Amino acid sequence: MGALDGKVAIVTGGSSGIGRATAVSFVNAGARVYIGDLDPDGIGSLVSELGHNYVDGMRVDITDETAVARMVETALRRFGRLDIGFNNAGVGGFSPIQDYPAADFRRVVDICLTGTFLCLKHQARQFIKAESGGSIINVASLNATQAAEGFAAYCSAKAGVAMLTKVAALELGPHRVRVNAIGPGLVRTPATEGLRSVPGLEDAFVGEVPLGRVGEPQDVAALATFLASDAASLMSGQTLYLDGGASINRYPPLFDFLTPETPP
Ligand SMILES: NC(=O)c1ccc[n+]([C@@H]2O[C@H](COP(=O)([O-])OP(=O)(O)OC[C@H]3O[C@@H](n4cnc5c(N)ncnc54)[C@H](O)[C@@H]3O)[C@@H](O)[C@H]2O)c1
Repeated sequence: MGALDGKVAIVTGGSSGIGRATAVSFVNAGARVYIGDLDPDGIGSLVSELGHNYVDGMRVDITDETAVARMVETALRRFGRLDIGFNNAGVGGFSPIQDYPAADFRRVVDICLTGTFLCLKHQARQFIKAESGGSIINVASLNATQAAEGFAAYCSAKAGVAMLTKVAALELGPHRVRVNAIGPGLVRTPATEGLRSVPGLEDAFVGEVPLGRVGEPQDVAALATFLASDAASLMSGQTLYLDGGASINRYPPLFDFLTPETPP
């Protein structure tokens, strides 16, 4: 028997990296998963890998509220219920503050914070309407608590996700909806390829990690699967930093490695 037997999850950003690994882990634990992502090819390859009975999805931009509402409705129609929201889609961005174009700053906040809020909002509506309870897991970052040079938008947006998680836990607890966040450190995904290929940068990061390694998408997937399951039935409002202990130390000085001309 799997930890998520019979449950249905929405996973945003499921076409790649952490979202993809989490979708696989959810299915292996017995859930059916509906993916929302900008990249339909990634959804298609996941459906081929895991089978149409277990995975489906649609192209969604999580900054578009109408599309997010449609994603929740379609997931419900497709799999008949909703138990888990894994709000993971996000992007990074690098610029010194004095040069940060306002439009680029807004885009990061729009996707990472407002997009997460929209998914949470429409999942919450469904959980309240169905009186079913549920588990919502937002993906924040180590950078929700640890400042990094050049990451003004990303750090601010992810700190916002951690606080949004607390407010949502407070409001939704009476409806038996748990809301938690995961704050990963550096994880080996397509999004961090650029950063990890800058000479010396991955070593500098790992030098601040007491456990001495970067994360794998499966590390995050395992924690997400626990938080989604009934084994975590008393846990709500928390951001769990999954970073090998990096949050105890400091983020590497990125301006020693990157310039506005050589962003990650
Ligand atoms: N990789 C890391 O080191 C790391 C560390 C901390 C937090 N995170 C967070 O984890 C999450 C996943 O990151 P990842 O490393 O797996 O990245 P990734 O680039 O591998 O995957 C992100 C996915 O999100 C999708 N996406 C982007 N914008 C979207 C939008 N507007 N609407 C719908 N889908 C959209 C992309 O198409 C992609 O499939 C992000 O929120 C990221 O900030 C990653």
